[in-house]
Amino acid sequence: MGQASFPEMYERWLVGPLFRPWAEVTFEEVKLSPGHRVLDVACGTGIVARVAREQLGAAGYVVGIDINAEMLAVARTVAPDIDWRVGNAGALPLRDGEQFDVVVCQQGLQFFPDKPAAAAQMRRALARGGRLAVATWRPDEEIPFFRDLRRVAERLLGPIVDLRHSFGNAALIEALLRDAGFHDVRSRTISRRIRFEDGAPLLRLNTMALVGMSAAGKAMADHERKRVVEDVVSGSAPVLQSYADGSGVAFELSSNLVTANG
Ligand SMILES: C[S@@+](CC[C@H](N)C(=O)[O-])C[C@H]1O[C@@H](n2cnc3c(N)ncnc32)[C@H](O)[C@@H]1O
Repeated sequence: MGQASFPEMYERWLVGPLFRPWAEVTFEEVKLSPGHRVLDVACGTGIVARVAREQLGAAGYVVGIDINAEMLAVARTVAPDIDWRVGNAGALPLRDGEQFDVVVCQQGLQFFPDKPAAAAQMRRALARGGRLAVATWRPDEEIPFFRDLRRVAERLLGPIVDLRHSFGNAALIEALLRDAGFHDVRSRTISRRIRFEDGAPLLRLNTMALVGMSAAGKAMADHERKRVVEDVVSGSAPVLQSYADGSGVAFELSSNLVTANG
């Protein structure tokens, strides 16, 4: 993977198999119509905004906001015509009176330190009669592939709280949105079989994330952390093998999709 930055690796290896399918599912649930204005909160490299733009065409009004300028730099390279803005979900950088018909937050809410503030901001951003869609992964105990990989890492690093799967309880998301003033809040669990042509980059990126989230990994010097990543990657080979699918790897993945009206 050479000297690519994390956002470049995210876009290159993860977005197609892991994130695009859910953006498509979201817009099957929350249908876009010509003229709709769409806001992608915690857009990362921008897959939700890009799928919205594909559906709305060049005239579509699409904005993507993320706290990480490096993720947005990749988004800008892939889709220079979308309005990408650096900003915190807890204080969205919107223009005076700017509102959207559809607001989506895909796999971002679990990372926000102040979730009520983010919910209030998404409510503010949604036009009257608009639709909100929030997606968060289910707990990894329900996703054997990620649970098994975490257990390998935990053998070397001790218990790991995986932030990515830390807000999988749909009832909590529903309550958060109702408290923020959203109506008709509904959630469902969606499962998909995900397939990677090559499991190696996924394993490496997932291991880097797990090591980075562990208390032991956080306390390590860079060279030590890199060595542990190599050890966890090697120790995970049997797990990867058990999900082999031809030359690639395939597994079931589940996400909450919570929708609401403004
Ligand atoms: C797993 S990525 C998901 C990105 C994108 N929505 C997708 O589906 O590919 C999570 C994103 O949340 C962003 N993020 C985390 N905390 C944030 C915050 N407080 N405000 C805005 N974005 C945030 C990160 O920078 C990262 O790009």
